[in-house]
Amino acid sequence: MCGIVGYIGFRDAYPIIIKGLHRLEYRGYDSAGIALAEKGLKVYKKAGKVSDLEDFVKGITFTATAGMGHTRWATHGPPSDRNSHPHSSGDRKLTIIHNGIIENYGVIKEALLAKGHVFKSDTDTEVLIHLVEDIQKSTGLDLNEAVRLALNRVVGAYAIVVMSADRPDELIAARKGSPMVIGVGKGEYLIASDATPIVEYTKNVIYLNDNEIAYIKRDDLLIKNIDNTVQTPYIQELSLKLEMLEKGGYDHFMMKEIYEQPRSIRDCLRGRIYPGRGEVQLGGIKEYADKLRNVDRIIIVACGTSWHAGLVGEYLIEEFARVPVEVEYASEFRYRNPIITSKDLVIAISQSGETADTMAAIELAKERGATIFGICNVVGASIPRLTHAGVYTHAGPEIGVASTKAFTAQVSVLTLMAFYIAQQRGTITRNKSVEYLTELNEIPDLVERALKANDQVIAIAERFKDSPNCLFLGRGSSFPVALEGALKLKEISYIHAEGYPAAEMKHGPIALIDADMPVIFIATKNSSYEKVVSNIQEVKARGGHVIAIVSEGDTDVKEMAEYVIEIPQTSETFVPLLATIPLQLLAYHIAVMRGCNVDQPRNLAKSVTVE
Ligand code: F6R
Repeated sequence: MCGIVGYIGFRDAYPIIIKGLHRLEYRGYDSAGIALAEKGLKVYKKAGKVSDLEDFVKGITFTATAGMGHTRWATHGPPSDRNSHPHSSGDRKLTIIHNGIIENYGVIKEALLAKGHVFKSDTDTEVLIHLVEDIQKSTGLDLNEAVRLALNRVVGAYAIVVMSADRPDELIAARKGSPMVIGVGKGEYLIASDATPIVEYTKNVIYLNDNEIAYIKRDDLLIKNIDNTVQTPYIQELSLKLEMLEKGGYDHFMMKEIYEQPRSIRDCLRGRIYPGRGEVQLGGIKEYADKLRNVDRIIIVACGTSWHAGLVGEYLIEEFARVPVEVEYASEFRYRNPIITSKDLVIAISQSGETADTMAAIELAKERGATIFGICNVVGASIPRLTHAGVYTHAGPEIGVASTKAFTAQVSVLTLMAFYIAQQRGTITRNKSVEYLTELNEIPDLVERALKANDQVIAIAERFKDSPNCLFLGRGSSFPVALEGALKLKEISYIHAEGYPAAEMKHGPIALIDADMPVIFIATKNSSYEKVVSNIQEVKARGGHVIAIVSEGDTDVKEMAEYVIEIPQTSETFVPLLATIPLQLLAYHIAVMRGCNVDQPRNLAKSVTVE
């Protein structure tokens, strides 16, 4: 996590850096800091949001045209002024910003303490800049070499930018395991954790690779690897548009992103489904068609919301492609010596494409010979570069920390994959494909209709906003939807919420039900409808408040539930794409009514690059 921005060029650096930090604030928002090449180097840092940093420096006039900034998500040391980045060397001449974790910082720190270094913070980052200083002073090498040698001694992950008071016209940037993009302008360069701070100034970017170091001056860029070999940079053009990064009239990014879903699902399906021919085409994985015909097992690895999408994928792939699927938390998979063979296909799902646990799971599966596909949203992120092949979700930038449009886009891609694999294996007839794909093609319009429940959801939110707990229940592929509904509510409103398979309720959670407990059922017309209706009766009999997501025109549940929210009729396969919508809205409105920071909930960060 943490966001980093750097600028060197001919414009005022301060406003560029601050704007960039605001764009990256989704990556961490417990403290922020800047270093500017003003008469040597000036560092300002503060616990709190980027806006607190702005208040802190209000009234100071900056003229620097080079500098860097950081927004932090604390790992080593609590959020405080002194633990905020940038961190400086003992002689204050060098300063660094860092995203990642230096795992062996303890050993390095001890050695430096023994040599008389004094540390001002609890961070691993400060140790790294002291190490650079120490190497420089003890060997007499220049800064570029000292940084390179220091990085050779580091175990862990980093994206760093280093500045020196003696060389204010240079930035040194490096990455290993944490993202870093360099924007290439005319007479200027930008550095950032993702392309969002860059797009305003240039569309030309270089995604720095692991173990590469960039030495950047206003008119010169040299990239070397950590072994000192010069690398040839590959300049790509960004497809990102500036308006994608604005709130577009909504109060919060989360609401904008919820409302973007008809568009984002449409973008995700575009050019990939041919309903008339009953065909799915996925260019990103087509070279693996043979593999898909012979695959023994599919393992899906992911975290959080992406893991929930994976659970929906399990239903879809098993149903249509008839391949056994296991869905694993990436963080558990990697630590339990899993049995993987070269006949396995691993699908890694990640919105950010940077989640450390998911990346580690991919590395492990790769070592053991599996083929790896990625399902990612952020183009050019680390995961698409680690995997053998993959499919982008094309949901556009997701800035609200709670994932919404990324989830429905992931489910859409998994649906496409299920049909694609089924086609390769011959487990679906052409007629069935035509039928399902015709329906899938209409899902964006149905999502649009599902969003019309917003006013109704506001009334429900008003009624239950003060409940301390909430239960979400669903069966089949609506069970992951229940999990996702609970996660959304808890992460942004801080209400304790649990998602359960509806039938499991009687094996424990039923004990929780009383007159204070709202229970949200996904009770659409499908194969387990009757059973869910019985579960609703069980909750009612114990005085619980039932809120039900039902299929349009339902009358049975309407009679039983205190509140119903109708979603358009669709076949069971596509229910998750629609039933999720009112749950996202509910979490959103409850959080707003409770005065919570919807886009930046406490303790969270969007891109979890620590393990
Ligand atoms: C929840 C949420 C997280 C992420 C999880 C994985 O709203 O956003 O649970 O889903 O951290 O992140 P990605 O998909 O970027 O790997």
